Amino acid sequence: MVFGNLFKFRSQDMAIDLGTANTVVYVRGQGIVLNEPSVVAIETSNGVKKVKAVGNDAKMMMGKTPDSIEAIRPLRDGVIADIDVAEQMIKHFIKKVHGKRKLLSYPEIVICVPSGSTSVERRAIRDAASNAGASQVFLIEEPMAAAIGADMPVTEPIGSMVVDVGGGTTEVAVLSLRGLAYTTSVRTGGDKMDEAIVSYVRRHHNLLIGETTAERIKKDFGVAMAPADGIGHTIHIKGRDLVNGVPKEISINQGQIAEALGEPIGTIIEGVRIALENTAPELAADIVDQGIVLTGGGALISGLDEALSEETGLPVTVAEDPLACVAIGTGRAMEDEIFRGVLTTA
Ligand SMILES: Nc1ncnc2c1ncn2[C@@H]1O[C@H](COP(=O)(O)OP(=O)(O)OP(=O)(O)O)[C@@H](O)[C@H]1O
Ligand SMILES: [Mg+2]
Repeated sequence: MVFGNLFKFRSQDMAIDLGTANTVVYVRGQGIVLNEPSVVAIETSNGVKKVKAVGNDAKMMMGKTPDSIEAIRPLRDGVIADIDVAEQMIKHFIKKVHGKRKLLSYPEIVICVPSGSTSVERRAIRDAASNAGASQVFLIEEPMAAAIGADMPVTEPIGSMVVDVGGGTTEVAVLSLRGLAYTTSVRTGGDKMDEAIVSYVRRHHNLLIGETTAERIKKDFGVAMAPADGIGHTIHIKGRDLVNGVPKEISINQGQIAEALGEPIGTIIEGVRIALENTAPELAADIVDQGIVLTGGGALISGLDEALSEETGLPVTVAEDPLACVAIGTGRAMEDEIFRGVLTTA
């Protein structure tokens, strides 16, 4: 019976990738059990704020809420914009994963926090997890989690480079022997790409579109380099005409989308170039052999690997499931003793 209880105890341990765009939860022995947008809808009535919806339900409300409801992304640009709402969100997701199962004992939780979070914010996140029932909370750096999740040789004396293009930030890191030999973070990721599409459409077509529409265009048709014929697919976009205020539809092609995304993608490539310049020669030599691995949702932009490879002259590959890498890596760091050294308590 002791073993039975012990098993139950361990099986409630979880790893959480607290991303600016998505929160992904991994349970020991089960893998990923939850993947939802990091969005919370807050309703204010008679001056009292109440959580109305979290995750998928809240994201569906974005840009469409009445005055009394506000859909908030508590983490933005790789930092925690609203710690209270972030805490409520974490608690909600932890509860959702536990479901109706009664906690026999308290689980251990490993959280991957945005790299830009301050020590005060890290403590607040840790407290939120403790308040939600965790007995012990560990933290892990995002690029380390991404690299473990992408099966990179992080425990060996071999230098490797991971580039995690998330919603808020792009983390560039060189790893070797369970440590981050060099790391840099640029505040450009998927969100900046969405904003670039919004502003391109406004400037060139006098059309106002929402962030959700821009994100959909990016996911379905986004390209890092202009198509061979300069045009590619042509798509129709609906929004509000800025001149006469009425709804209207325009069409743009993938060549124009590549132009719109030029600036954020250029910033990401520049971040990688700076990291390469700052890498110690022995590690740089390894990276020539190992190449660069792309993780995070932004890695799915068509042609980003090619653009980066052209710019750096190095082989670039996209990890198998880029959106899940950080959660998988955080989960493995929790499950496998070999990675224990990468976890911290502060
Ligand atoms: N197919 C796709 N093509 C382009 N971008 C995509 C695609 N799928 C998702 N994305 C983008 O990836 C981003 C989310 O990636 P991810 O979940 O890795 O970010 P995050 O971990 O929440 O953010 P961060 O690491 O910055 O905290 C969003 O901006 C989303 O629009
Ligand atoms: Mg991330």
